[in-house]
Parts: sequence; structure tokens; C-alpha cells
Amino acid sequence: MKPLIELKNIHKSYPLDGFDLEILKGINLKIENGEFVAIMGPSGSGKSTLMNILGCLDTPSSGEYLLDGQNVENLDSDKLAEIRNRKIGFVFQGFNLLSRTTAIENVELPMVYSGINDAERRKKSSEALKSVGLGDRMYHQPNQLSGGQQQRVAIARAIVNNAPIIFADEPTGNLDTKMSVEIMQLFSKLNEELKRTIILVTHEEDIALYAKRIIKIVDGEIQSDTINKKRITK
Ligand SMILES: Nc1ncnc2c1ncn2[C@@H]1O[C@H](COP(=O)(O)OP(=O)(O)O)[C@@H](O)[C@H]1O
Ligand SMILES: [Mg+2]
Repeated sequence: MKPLIELKNIHKSYPLDGFDLEILKGINLKIENGEFVAIMGPSGSGKSTLMNILGCLDTPSSGEYLLDGQNVENLDSDKLAEIRNRKIGFVFQGFNLLSRTTAIENVELPMVYSGINDAERRKKSSEALKSVGLGDRMYHQPNQLSGGQQQRVAIARAIVNNAPIIFADEPTGNLDTKMSVEIMQLFSKLNEELKRTIILVTHEEDIALYAKRIIKIVDGEIQSDTINKKRITK
């Protein structure tokens, strides 16, 4: 079977003062359906750059990216957007929720342009919110929710379209320890019970320990890629 994600010799450079500054220096990587992967590394090592390429938010300077067997490295932004809609949910450090907009409306957003009718949208959003434990907070606005609850709304939004892959970039970066634990338990549940593939970026060891596989990136290169034998399961 083909891997869900396959990167072959991916490079990414940004122009700087007339030169190319190389950020990713030949990344080779395979991720199978159903994996729970943490990408770790110091600040500036290229984690977000890699995540943006994996999530079809950005394209590499060179190399090959096969997502579900499809070459995506040269697609235009419309095609990439279509792939993101079908296959990918995102969770970011800063939650990225619309203010003065209820939790359920925030969760409905990815479906606004997908031709799903209002009633169906409501139903799916309320189910997604219930599955992240927010059945009793559906009509709260972000400023009426704790940081952990806001992040759970963002996770509901990431899963509402049934996207098989969830990318999370430093999802616990703005949360205290207790809320971070709750969010990581939720990702574990989505992986175990809903069989979502989860790829999360973190620079915190304690957070990475919830994943089944840990990839360490240093200076734009994979330094290690190991099964996490010390996995936290509760
Ligand atoms: N759009 C950009 N233009 C130029 N340099 C960038 C851009 N995005 C990121 N970089 C640089 O690439 C390096 C890696 O950034 P990033 O992938 O965000 O690291 P990390 O997420 O591991 O902290 C940093 O040195 C950063 O300054
Ligand atoms: Mg980053």
C-alpha cells in the first residue's frame, strides 16, 4: 500500500539579500494512514516550514511530495485549496477563531463553501463540538471560553469535514500544563477512536510524548525518527 504522505528530497529556500537561504535541506519522509507523529526541534529549525508544505499551504523549492499517491508539489493554489478542503484539518497555536462568533458558527466555517445545507451544517458542527466535549458551550463566543476550550473549538473545526489528516502547529503553545494535557488527550482520542492521522509540531518533549512516533528536525534536516516507547496514553 502507498503511504499517506511521502516526501522525497524536499528542499525549501527563501530569498534573502540576493541569496537563497536554505531552510529545508533534503527531507525524506513517509507517513502511513493512522499514524500519530510529533515533529520536534528547536525554534527556527524549519518545523513550521515543513508543516506548511505537508499541509499544502506552501510548496517546496524542489523535491517531490506525494499525498495519497498524488503529486502535489507543483499544483497551483486553487488545486491545493481543494486538496486541503477534502483531506486536511488545521489547528494552530493561536486558535484562529473568529471573535464575536459562536463556537458552532466557527466550526461551521469550513463547510460554508462546500455546498452543504444549513441544517446539515448545524448537525455536523454540533456533533463535532460534542465529540470534543463542548456540547454545553456551542453558543459561547471565544472570549467566553478558556484557552483550552477555544483550542477544542478549533479542533472541532478541523475534524468537522471528516478530513483524514489533522495538522497541528504548536497546538499547546498558548496553554497551561493542565489544558495542554487535555488537548493532547483529545488528539490521542481522535487518533485511536476516529482513526485520524495526526501530525503535530512541538518544541516541548512532554507534548511530543503523547505521539506514537517522534521525528526530530535540526537545522532543516531530520536528525532522528523513532517509535516513541515512552508514550503517554492517559
Ligand atoms: N517566509 C519566509 N521568508 C524568509 N524566511 C523565512 C520565512 N519563513 C520562515 N523563514 C525562516 O526559516 C527558518 C525556519 O522557520 P520555521 O519553519 O518557522 O521554524 P520553526 O517552526 O522550527 O521555529 C527561520 O530562520 C525563519 O526565519
Ligand atoms: Mg514554528
